[in-house]
Amino acid sequence: MRKTFIAGNWKMNLTQSGATELAAGLVAKLADNTTVEVAICPSFGFLSGVAEQLASSHISLGAQNLYPAECGAYTGELNAEMLLDLGCEYVILGHSERRHLPELDESNEFINLKIKSAIATGLKPILCVGELLEEREAGRTTTVVEQQLTNSLADITAEQIELITIAYEPVWAIGTGKVATPEQAEEVHGSIRAWLRDRFNDLVADTTRIQYGGSVKPENARELLGQPNIDGALVGGAALSTDSFAGIIENA
Ligand code: 13P
Repeated sequence: MRKTFIAGNWKMNLTQSGATELAAGLVAKLADNTTVEVAICPSFGFLSGVAEQLASSHISLGAQNLYPAECGAYTGELNAEMLLDLGCEYVILGHSERRHLPELDESNEFINLKIKSAIATGLKPILCVGELLEEREAGRTTTVVEQQLTNSLADITAEQIELITIAYEPVWAIGTGKVATPEQAEEVHGSIRAWLRDRFNDLVADTTRIQYGGSVKPENARELLGQPNIDGALVGGAALSTDSFAGIIENA
């Protein structure tokens, strides 16, 4: 049985006080929740303030990126050890904003190094994959997603993948208000699970959690999360309000 996993990606939003207030609000509101696993992923600068708020709660902390190297001359970067030290359990890797912002332009090969670095320290990666609108319209969704999985997870073993959550985030649905229909999302989730079965084994396919991300709100969460291959959600905009994030968790 895969436990539903809802993670909030706060992206580059909030202030230190806003982030700690939002975390405190979620801790209070979700105190009774033990059925859904919840994580929040603030900006690097707010991790320690948010970690303090989450200390006595069931909510886990995640980061939005890491740099795959040991300590040294990497100005402006944080590595997996530092994130663990700050209290992180999860790290989002390969987010479409990092793949597709032209100045960042992250490759699957770089994401693969990050995945390996996270796993080597025990940090749990949330690996994002997803197609652009023109790729969907050209009928290339499955090919694109499989290519991202193949290259981002190169050399990863069946034991190592236990730490990984996969997030299917169609790029055209992120922050646009355009949500994939439950059927569209389920179709891709099913193909990701089939890929996992083929690349690893039945156990990996049956136990790996696959989240959907892209304009998830309390109003669409129930139907999306009701699909057999959708095991959770990676939430952006709606994770910036206690009510809407808690609403998604209640509807999960
Ligand atoms: P939105 O929920 O704002 O569409 O963002 C999704 C996302 O990118 C989560 O990582």
